[in-house]
Amino acid sequence: MQPWPLTFLVCLFLSFLLPGKGNHFTINCSGFDHQGVDPTVFASVIVRKDFRPVLNYSVPMQVNISFTISSILDVDEQLQLLTSFLWLDMVWDNAFISWNPEECGGLRKISITAQNLWLPDIFIIESVDVDQTPTGLTAYVSNEGRVKYKKPMKVTSICNLDIFRFPFDKQNCTLTFSSFLFTVDDMLLGMEKELWEIVDTSHNLIKTQGEWELLGISKATPKLAVGSNLYDQIMFHVAIKRRPGLYVINLLLPSGFLIAIDALSFLLPAESGNRAPFKMTLLLGYTVFLLMMNDLLPASGIPLISIYFAVCLTLMVTSLLESVLLTYLLHTVTTQPPPMPDWLYSLVLRCVRATECCPKRSQTENGGPAPSAARPPGLRGPGAEAGPGKAEPNGDPQATWAEPQRPRPPDVWVKFSLALDTLLFWLYLSFMASSLITVIVLWRT
Ligand SMILES: *[C@@H]1O[C@H](CO)[C@@H](O)[C@H](O)[C@H]1NC(C)=O
Ligand SMILES: *[C@@H]1O[C@H](CO)[C@@H](O)[C@H](O)[C@H]1NC(C)=O
Ligand SMILES: *[C@@H]1O[C@H](CO)[C@@H](O)[C@H](O)[C@H]1NC(C)=O
Ligand SMILES: *[C@@H]1O[C@H](CO)[C@@H](O)[C@H](O)[C@H]1NC(C)=O
Repeated sequence: MQPWPLTFLVCLFLSFLLPGKGNHFTINCSGFDHQGVDPTVFASVIVRKDFRPVLNYSVPMQVNISFTISSILDVDEQLQLLTSFLWLDMVWDNAFISWNPEECGGLRKISITAQNLWLPDIFIIESVDVDQTPTGLTAYVSNEGRVKYKKPMKVTSICNLDIFRFPFDKQNCTLTFSSFLFTVDDMLLGMEKELWEIVDTSHNLIKTQGEWELLGISKATPKLAVGSNLYDQIMFHVAIKRRPGLYVINLLLPSGFLIAIDALSFLLPAESGNRAPFKMTLLLGYTVFLLMMNDLLPASGIPLISIYFAVCLTLMVTSLLESVLLTYLLHTVTTQPPPMPDWLYSLVLRCVRATECCPKRSQTENGGPAPSAARPPGLRGPGAEAGPGKAEPNGDPQATWAEPQRPRPPDVWVKFSLALDTLLFWLYLSFMASSLITVIVLWRT
């Protein structure tokens, strides 16, 4: 009675040892080539699908992955989400499956419904959506037990989007593939394809002329430590670039035209009184334009283009105010000169003195209308003195400016406002030039 349990234990031990030799799981496939696959021979595989298909649990199993991006569906700046569609390829070895192809009419691989197989739980860490893998997918199984499984995934992933350079922005989104459960002791991740192959196939698949263009993919493989557990993961940095054409045509071009027309309206004679209504109409048009184009702008953050629009609007309002002031001044100095406070008088005089060194420049740069604007009807004095090279009825201009009491306040007013006009005009030109350079630089890089 004593040695019986011992014999039983030895038998049990031997029966556990046998699978380690590898032939225990060999599938008897005689007749595959005559009657097709007999479902009963795979019954043992299907029964074991809940367990990780390894024979030695101290050796981590290797799952090799690769993916192909087939389209970039949406980039949501407000929620900071990237929605893409990709195919995930996974390859791993199932130690419970093997057969001898010679006995099976040379059959080297068959397809099995994926539901009947153990599947690795690879997911994307950045994903914020539940996995919507379609059911009924199949996997290829080779005679050595190597399983090839492909699944389509619509991935909505968190991505840190920087929209400052909108619409010339590039984004760098990360897709990190990792296992839900298995630590490095149980599962290791590897690459199924080379990185350049992934990039090439993705480039070939994304043929659409959508808003986003794939620039490249780079890879990093840091291990993820959560508490005392270490998880293997593969990180892909997907770089995408926006095609700016739509925004240049719909946003930048109309805005640039309106600003250019506004700048050109400085050529309208100031005393004719047409300028302010003209600028008012432009301002109204610009406001309507901004209202209509609001949908095209990112809903969150402050991109450079919003600052550009704000500066455009500010310039237009400033120039409208300046036109109103100019019209008022030119009108009042011809009828009744307004009284000028002492402090403003001295300030204006100081300003005029500062610009007095180059009165010729302010007139020639102002273009055609400036000289006529500089001499409102019935006005004499500084307007006539402004050209030192011309005939000077009052003699030396230096002598005229020697005493602060000499020029009449209206003349100083007019001179100052005309200088303001010139200044604003040059501000417009420099703003237009700098915004054009900025656009070109942003587009090139
Ligand atoms: C496979 O099964 C057939 C009967 O279905 C049997 O004749 C054959 O010997 C088996 N082969 C092996 C290797 O077990
Ligand atoms: C399992 O793998 C470990 C590490 O490679 C090895 O030491 C051990 O002998 C293996 N066990 C069996 C039953 O093969
Ligand atoms: C995974 O890739 C590694 C290295 O490329 C290779 O040695 C290994 O056999 C592959 N494993 C599977 C299951 O494809
Ligand atoms: C994306 O960002 C990561 C760091 O977050 C960096 O290592 C990687 O090089 C970037 N990729 C590209 C294409 O800029």
